[in-house]
Amino acid sequence: MAKYKIAVLPGDGIGKDVMDAAKIVLDVIDLDAEYIHGDIGWKFWKTEGDPLPERTVKLLKETDCCLFGAITSKPSGDAQKELAPKLQNKGLVYSSPIVKLRQMFNLHTNLRPCKAYPGNPLNYKDNIDIVIFRENTEDLYVGVEFRPLPKTVFDALMINKKMKKFENTPLEDIAVSCRIFTRKACQNIVRQAFEYAKEHKRKSVTLVEKPNVVRETSGMMLEEARKIAQEYPGIKYQETNVDAMCMWLVKNPQDYDILVSSNMFGDIISDLAAQLVGGLGFASSGNIGDNYAVFEPTHGSAPKYAGQYKVNPMAMLLTVKLMLDWLGEKKKATKLEQAVASVIKEGKVKTYDVGGNSTTLDVAKEVAKKFEKL
Ligand code: NAI
Ligand code: MG
Repeated sequence: MAKYKIAVLPGDGIGKDVMDAAKIVLDVIDLDAEYIHGDIGWKFWKTEGDPLPERTVKLLKETDCCLFGAITSKPSGDAQKELAPKLQNKGLVYSSPIVKLRQMFNLHTNLRPCKAYPGNPLNYKDNIDIVIFRENTEDLYVGVEFRPLPKTVFDALMINKKMKKFENTPLEDIAVSCRIFTRKACQNIVRQAFEYAKEHKRKSVTLVEKPNVVRETSGMMLEEARKIAQEYPGIKYQETNVDAMCMWLVKNPQDYDILVSSNMFGDIISDLAAQLVGGLGFASSGNIGDNYAVFEPTHGSAPKYAGQYKVNPMAMLLTVKLMLDWLGEKKKATKLEQAVASVIKEGKVKTYDVGGNSTTLDVAKEVAKKFEKL
């Protein structure tokens, strides 16, 4: 029996293209692993009314971790229209399978490294090496939302005198999305960030929130972060408001090291940080829980490039690197990162986004070749 069982979910659009690239590299990495294909995405919503079929959930439960490509998500109206006729008007409601996976497997930590590999012409500045820890299961993503606002909820909210402002607004004209944080999740994400900083000998951890405005949620995160920071005297702890962080990231990205934030703010700053180091073609991520993890490139299914093998596979290959790290295969992980870095540095084999015309699979083959030589 293989040492690891890994679920492989290509999903939609370019998810398949980049997964084919990953397979080329996984072949030469020669991990003692069994890779098992699973179904996920838009096709299964249309034909089965469920973008995350039960058999896929079962598969994930039987594996050590999952490598995932990308999925297509569409607004509710479009989702309904595209359902197979036999599934229409059955009350089926589309929800993003990746958000569902994060909740279902309690993948509480979203890890997003953003590193400017030398020689990448898309680097915004040199020497950027930021790792973002984004809380992955709470905040606005819990999905507790109301429109129209039920009278019972309105009445309950009226215990806060600031609600008086909306007293005369018709309930159907009020939309509410709840930002829900728990102390446990706040502690966890900050702890993960500091532990990572300690293990990787990083200099600072910056909490990115907005406690001067969202006082209770960001406030609780801040309170917990300050306590935890005291346990790591060797690591500099800083606090920045999310809006200011966007400005600082554009101004002095080299000054930042580990960033830690809640789900929505973390989402926003990770896209900004990704663009500083070459954009979605280079942005990897891990959704990490206590016992399970799903690794995915940050990009989506980019439908206009689907099946053309044009897009950059580096995001996916760096995602494989994160998976190897998590599995404890540090040597292979380091070697893969070196192979990726050397292909970037040489700059000969590159996809359209980096100004080249190599295919997705050409780039993967080049990385595989370098890996074998290291
Ligand atoms: P996207 O990430 O799919 O693509 C946006 C643009 O970024 C592309 O048109 C392309 O120009 C560029 N791009 C993305 N990946 C690239 C790569 N590997 N190499 C080079 N260029 C790349 O985002 P978009 O267009 O907003 O969403 C498309 C679909 O993907 C939607 O249905 C959306 O809901 C879904 N999505 C899924 C995600 C996931 O699977 N976790 C994440 C983000 C979006
Ligand atoms: Mg995003």
